[in-house]
Amino acid sequence: MFEHLPFDGNLVDLENYTLVYKILDNAADDMLYFGERVACCRPLPSTQNNKYDDETYYSKYNLKLRPYLGPTSTDHELALLMANQGQVSAGDFVYDPFVGTGSIAAALQHFGAFVFGSDLDIRVIKGYGVGRKTKNQIKGLDDIKKFDINTNFQYYGLPLPDFWVQDMNTPMLATNRPIFDAIVCDPPYGVRARTQTVGVAESKQKKFKERTVNPSEKH
Ligand SMILES: C[S@@+](CC[C@H](N)C(=O)[O-])C[C@H]1O[C@@H](n2cnc3c(N)ncnc32)[C@H](O)[C@@H]1O
Repeated sequence: MFEHLPFDGNLVDLENYTLVYKILDNAADDMLYFGERVACCRPLPSTQNNKYDDETYYSKYNLKLRPYLGPTSTDHELALLMANQGQVSAGDFVYDPFVGTGSIAAALQHFGAFVFGSDLDIRVIKGYGVGRKTKNQIKGLDDIKKFDINTNFQYYGLPLPDFWVQDMNTPMLATNRPIFDAIVCDPPYGVRARTQTVGVAESKQKKFKERTVNPSEKH
């Protein structure tokens, strides 16, 4: 059950353990919260050296330390939680039909799945205008020549998923046999991203019809 966590049996020393407790003073609701640290987030690096001894997989995928980003890249912690909710494990076939810049795909890939991703917008996959190189100073970016969806996977040392362009409104597979173990995605039904579709808008279709001469009315 816990095989995806980065612990082997020798890591836990019950004789000499360290527990970190924190108190959070939340100004918004004027409450104090007390808790134990279970994972750690890296602060933004102030230098080009962004390696920390206490790196966990939660901090490794921090969006602030990711080379390629888009306007709606899914938060890294949320993506990892979604992969967990999908019960994704090594060898699973998992699909993200709204893959964008691949934030969820990276989380799925981290857990060892075979990942497939598609998106309507080729620009976000290929790095044309919509997706962009991070503005943060991250070690190793000078060596990267092209910034697109593959860049992050190469940077993390993860295998490359299969990506393609597709409108989710179109049928995908001519089979009624299940192919994927899970579908994990961040659909464009919110404030951050609107649903789009390929085709000609109804208003334009109407204009086109009006301009088109009906052959029976020609004479
Ligand atoms: C909320 S974003 C997903 C972000 C993604 N998880 C990431 O990390 O970048 C929604 C995505 O759905 C895509 N989209 C919108 N309408 C679509 C459609 N009809 N079919 C497929 N993709 C669509 C958008 O291009 C956008 O990239």
